[in-house]
Amino acid sequence: IASTDYHFVVKEASCTRLCSTKKILTVNGQFPGPTLRVRKGDTIFVNVQNLGNENITIHWHGVKQPRNPWSDGPEYITQCPIKPGASFKHKVIFSTEEGTLWWHAHSDWSRATVYGAIIIYPMLGADYPFPKPDAEVPILLGEWWKQDVKQVLQDFLSNGGAPNVSDALTINGQPGDLYPCSKSDTFRLTVDEGKTYLLRMVNAAMNIILFFSIAKHDLTVVGADGSYTKPLTRHYITISPGQTLDVLLQANKKPDLYHMAARAYATGVNVSFDNTTTTAIVQYSVRNYTSFTSPHLPYLPYYNDTTAAFQFFGSVHSLANKDHPINVPLEINHRMVSTVSVNARPCERRNGTCAGPNGTRLAASMNNISFVTPSIDILEAYYQHIQGVFGYNFPDFPPYVFNFTAEYMPLILEIPRAGTELKLLEYNSTVEMVFQDTNLVAGLDHPMHLHGYSFFVVGFGFGNFDEEKDPLNYNLIDPPLLNTVAVPINGWTTIRFRASNPGVWFMHCHIERHLTWGMETVFIVRNGEFPEQKLLPPPPDMPPC
Ligand code: C2O
Ligand code: CU
Repeated sequence: IASTDYHFVVKEASCTRLCSTKKILTVNGQFPGPTLRVRKGDTIFVNVQNLGNENITIHWHGVKQPRNPWSDGPEYITQCPIKPGASFKHKVIFSTEEGTLWWHAHSDWSRATVYGAIIIYPMLGADYPFPKPDAEVPILLGEWWKQDVKQVLQDFLSNGGAPNVSDALTINGQPGDLYPCSKSDTFRLTVDEGKTYLLRMVNAAMNIILFFSIAKHDLTVVGADGSYTKPLTRHYITISPGQTLDVLLQANKKPDLYHMAARAYATGVNVSFDNTTTTAIVQYSVRNYTSFTSPHLPYLPYYNDTTAAFQFFGSVHSLANKDHPINVPLEINHRMVSTVSVNARPCERRNGTCAGPNGTRLAASMNNISFVTPSIDILEAYYQHIQGVFGYNFPDFPPYVFNFTAEYMPLILEIPRAGTELKLLEYNSTVEMVFQDTNLVAGLDHPMHLHGYSFFVVGFGFGNFDEEKDPLNYNLIDPPLLNTVAVPINGWTTIRFRASNPGVWFMHCHIERHLTWGMETVFIVRNGEFPEQKLLPPPPDMPPC
């Protein structure tokens, strides 16, 4: 925590996995990228210099950046990209976050290899709300394609179908010893018997919710998305793309080799996914290694075990004690229900059909609008009063009332309209948003992520949201405070937050292909009346559009 200035050089490096070599985009030549270590309340500067040959932006996932959307990163939402040869110095303002977050590229699919952990320690003199661990270890879960990821993106954008599934999942950038040609690419964690390790876990995978477990060892979750939770001890965890967890691991088993492993939690009929298993090795440090056999494999739930996935998610609660109080909004100013759907758009190819259902092009939407990314960023358009870039029509009609999860859907919902519609919020107003998954092209779980805020997850359930009955069961006492929440397949999730951070803030599904297809919207939160409630001015080196 010595410095407040960091230098991120975005450049290509060559990287070999599964016996095949390709060029990948990296920060400082590292994969995964460097870990940032800060204390709660710090402000740091990260100068991002683009020495690659494609546009890039960097996002500080889960960092609220009070009044400072300028450094938030999503391409064409809060900034135009940093072009090859250019630089942009980000001011990253930490406020209430404590625990693990992460940073990643936020342009096209470059986050596949451009990501790293952020560890936020308690303020000087403050302690963790759990016994101090003996060591801390970032565990970043990811996804690896043998193909160039730019190519994966181009291919499915041009054919209108689903992207190629990845060739491997990874732990700290390494597929592990269950894949062919991968023995040497296996992350090893050496532990001392009797010690406790704090795993700083990130799901940086592009498209896959993951189950994770360590053979014969319990995992105790103590934090999620940069906020402390009641300790929760489980044999496995579920973690969505975008989510982070703080997990205690006690090395209290017979000294031996144990696998940690992750594999997909994947639902949806006819949706293909990477069903491989990534492993790393937990190795007890003892003098005599000869007694070690091959590592024990952990138990992981079956790939479509929705009950297992949501039993875990539903067991995570805010710590919510006197040292870590929470403030759940009870009076709500804006109530919204938004569908989250994978659907289809007409195929625009001149002579032929697209690879989506019935020759259409796959699309995705919120509130039946498939988001169109503008060509100058929304923050600049808002700040400079540039007309014609976006509209304020989210949601643009009262939600349809019908059975969202039935087998047959109204045709009008299969083809969402395309547009750049967002929601304007008054400073300090309170928001409740219900995400309703639908069964249009396919019911799927959607990890919904909001920039600039953490929100309380006050409830979730399966089937259609019942606005009479379901609110009666909301948890307003110790709901988890997250920035990313998995909406269950053919189910719903309700979040609440107070719009106390003025700016332009992206909301989107963190499954990358759904983001590419348009499952996103934007909140604009207006300035408050006092100076400390207003947007900061833009930095002088903001990348030009
Ligand atoms: Cu993890 Cu919009 O990002
Ligand atoms: Cu999604």
